[in-house]
Amino acid sequence: MNTKLIFADASGFATPMLAVFAVDLATGRNAEPRPLLLTSSSDLADATARALGPGEFKAGLGETALVNATTGLHAERLLIVGLGKARDLSLDKLRKGAGTAVRAAKARAVRELAIAFSETGADVVGDVPPLTVLSPKLTARALVEGAQLAEPDWNTYRSDRKDIFLNELALIYKVTDEQSRLDAQEGFTEGLVVAAAQNFTRALVNEPGNVLTPTELGLRAKAMCVEAGLACEVHSTEKIRELKMEAFWAVAKGSAQPPALIVITYEPAGGAPADAPVLGLVGKGITFDSGGISLKPGDGMEKMKYDMAGAAAVIGAMQAIARLKPAVKVIAVVCSAENMPDGRAVKPGDVVTAMSGTTIEIVNTDAEGRLVLADGLHYAKTLGATRLIDAATLTGACVVALGNLNAGLFSNDEAACANFVNALAVSGENFWRLPCTDDYRERISSEIADIMNTGKNRYGGAINAAIFLKEFAGETPWVHLDIAGCAWNEEKKPWIAYGPSGIAVRSIVEWVRGYSAK
Ligand code: BES
Ligand code: MN
Ligand code: ZN
Repeated sequence: MNTKLIFADASGFATPMLAVFAVDLATGRNAEPRPLLLTSSSDLADATARALGPGEFKAGLGETALVNATTGLHAERLLIVGLGKARDLSLDKLRKGAGTAVRAAKARAVRELAIAFSETGADVVGDVPPLTVLSPKLTARALVEGAQLAEPDWNTYRSDRKDIFLNELALIYKVTDEQSRLDAQEGFTEGLVVAAAQNFTRALVNEPGNVLTPTELGLRAKAMCVEAGLACEVHSTEKIRELKMEAFWAVAKGSAQPPALIVITYEPAGGAPADAPVLGLVGKGITFDSGGISLKPGDGMEKMKYDMAGAAAVIGAMQAIARLKPAVKVIAVVCSAENMPDGRAVKPGDVVTAMSGTTIEIVNTDAEGRLVLADGLHYAKTLGATRLIDAATLTGACVVALGNLNAGLFSNDEAACANFVNALAVSGENFWRLPCTDDYRERISSEIADIMNTGKNRYGGAINAAIFLKEFAGETPWVHLDIAGCAWNEEKKPWIAYGPSGIAVRSIVEWVRGYSAK
């Protein structure tokens, strides 16, 4: 999708379809909806008012109305896109609104779409109470992200796939001052970079396990790195054994597919100061999780191809980092393997020594993510990382706790966690913090080894997994993202397709930028 930012009045822009945003000003419980267009163009506001009958359009989030454009406009048709209640207007609503516009256009086989930049300033046409003013930079970013993320449909493997793509997208902004123009341009450029990275992640997550083996994940990471100008090394069995990553190897050895240890390094131009933090991004890359000898039930097992979504998020984030060039060194470590039952597979009761020297009693081979991450986190530290973040589809318990609308956030350090929470304001992703204080530690203590890979019972399962990882983060400030419930969109929405979500890419990128020296 060729995407442009054009500084002009949208009413004068010639296009087959022009999308404009509307909010609902009504407040009371049973109040009649009062749609308001977020535009300062009176031609646009007039044309819409004439085209819409009273009560026809309620401006609900994801609601659209298509009307023929009337005089005063150069567009052939107008697509009015609801953003919900005026007082709830947010960047997230804009992201969803832009996505709704793109998907509504796609559904009508429209190949070129223009979107009128949502305006929230005092010059919005009509008798308008003050709206939440959203900055031009973040508005441009949210709109372009929402649009880009809405474009793909994940029916790659369907032979009846209709190649209906939106070819051209123009974001039309009637800018009033030079600063807003620069800010919008910056947000637009960032949004394109970040959304492309997120879509790259989603494409990886979408692949079936037979196609995206650990080896293939390594090849795709490498290809991305060559293109983006990142250093990348992909290792396999030999290196994993040489590094004494017994926890990682315990998971990998039951599969006919060799594992992959992927290391990607980003160095800022001119290097970083000696005392600057070095960031370690660690991803769980289980390309298929059968559970191993602790085999999962058959129902829904096909979903476990997306058990590499954390790895994909880390790899995608590195692509965006290479392009946005923050002034901080970043090392990504991805531990990729298939978790399979086999004559050579690890068994419940087996004890392994992780790379850190910690001994682990493996009670359940289905708790494999924490095993590969244990070695990944430790290895990132030996490579020089002084701040850690990991992303993993780690526990079903996290899905039980938070559902599909928030992912789990854990940390051993208030500053690293605060940096992540700040990142959420820009990324718009939903993470909810859960505890992993030291009093949970006894839940993973073992009679046999230093720790065991499950909790004493199934209560607080997401915390048990986090407390296990915390053992390997040690004193290093660390943030853990359990994305099990959010990595796959089970329902399609007006603004996004069914399938891989690409969760955590945007937040990881912003977390990294939060440490940038510039
Ligand atoms: N990959 C799963 C977690 C998962 C569940 C991801 C649902 C996505 C959706 C993980 O490896 C796993 O199997 N966890 C077990 C841990 C248990 C054995 C302690 C779980 O959550 O049941
Ligand atoms: Mn598992
Ligand atoms: Zn798993």
